[in-house]
Amino acid sequence: MRALIVDRSVPGGLRVAEAPEPVPTPGQALIRVTATSLNFGEVRHGIDSAPEGAVLGWDAAGVVVRAAADGSGPAVGTSVVTLGEDGGWAELRAVRTDWIGVVPEGADPGAISTIPVAGATALRALDRVGPLLGRRVLVTGATGGVGRYAVQLARLGGAYVIAATGDPARHGDGLRALGAHEVVESPARSGGRLDGVLDMLGGAPLVEAFDQLGEGGTLVAVGHSTGEGESFPFGALFGGADRHDRSLVTFLLLCCDGLHRDLTWLAGQVAGGTLSPEIAWRGGWDDAAEAVTALLERRLHGKAVLDLA
Ligand SMILES: NC(=O)c1ccc[n+]([C@@H]2O[C@H](COP(=O)([O-])OP(=O)(O)OC[C@H]3O[C@@H](n4cnc5c(N)ncnc54)[C@H](OP(=O)(O)O)[C@@H]3O)[C@@H](O)[C@H]2O)c1
Repeated sequence: MRALIVDRSVPGGLRVAEAPEPVPTPGQALIRVTATSLNFGEVRHGIDSAPEGAVLGWDAAGVVVRAAADGSGPAVGTSVVTLGEDGGWAELRAVRTDWIGVVPEGADPGAISTIPVAGATALRALDRVGPLLGRRVLVTGATGGVGRYAVQLARLGGAYVIAATGDPARHGDGLRALGAHEVVESPARSGGRLDGVLDMLGGAPLVEAFDQLGEGGTLVAVGHSTGEGESFPFGALFGGADRHDRSLVTFLLLCCDGLHRDLTWLAGQVAGGTLSPEIAWRGGWDDAAEAVTALLERRLHGKAVLDLA
């Protein structure tokens, strides 16, 4: 089969080549992949550290060509969206059936391929904040893949949504169109106590965002894109008036249970137009280096989709 393999000698660190077909375990289905999307984490950390020739890729949309031998999961011919720890950037992927969502017939595979990491992370991290109706929620890194789904889902859940981006002048209109009530340059400008924060950045923005939490508020540390550590000044963790019982929780999508239900639900929302996949770049396998570079250089704000034609 053809796959996008790691080759650090070429620009972007990826090239199209022949690779061995995956052999599914009894709990895995075999998927013919039609589209995949790139995520900052796998691009930033995966390509640098994987063995040469490895087939990476977390997200893939496609069709089941062999159902799981243990009888779990969708039947042959079902359109699906899949999450995996690797193997998504290939014509065939073996994937555990509890990480497969069912997709409405006729949906655009490219749009659907944006869902697994970005959409499911946003959904599960918002779950961790708690009830959203009438709550004030800040999303940092809001212009990114996760952030754009988080803004839409928080708004859908009834929250007052504040989106943070390094460039509000450029991204403000787009984020407001997605559902943000306010767009700010930094967490300190959130303008009042927050009930929840989804933080994609870590470092100083995380410390600043934590300082905006009100009583009972929760900050979910989803991402660490700044690459910086966090240093809390003395007093930052005091539980003073209206600051009691704040929490900071860590998050890892791959540790969440029941993802097949979320993937199916998200696919229905994207296919039906309730959620926008926010595709910022779309191309073929041969153009992957362009998307990888733009993502790493913070020039790509949204999802990059590769169609496996
Ligand atoms: N824990 C998990 O399970 C999990 C799951 C998914 C993603 N993540 C992590 O969550 C983060 C967001 O993922 P993503 O796919 O949405 O990434 P993304 O598409 O690259 O978006 C991140 C956004 O953050 C901002 N940003 C990027 N680099 C920055 C920097 N050095 N300093 C300040 N702001 C920066 C950019 O927005 P502006 O340029 O507009 O400011 C960018 O649009 C990543 O760190 C990713 O690894 C974690």
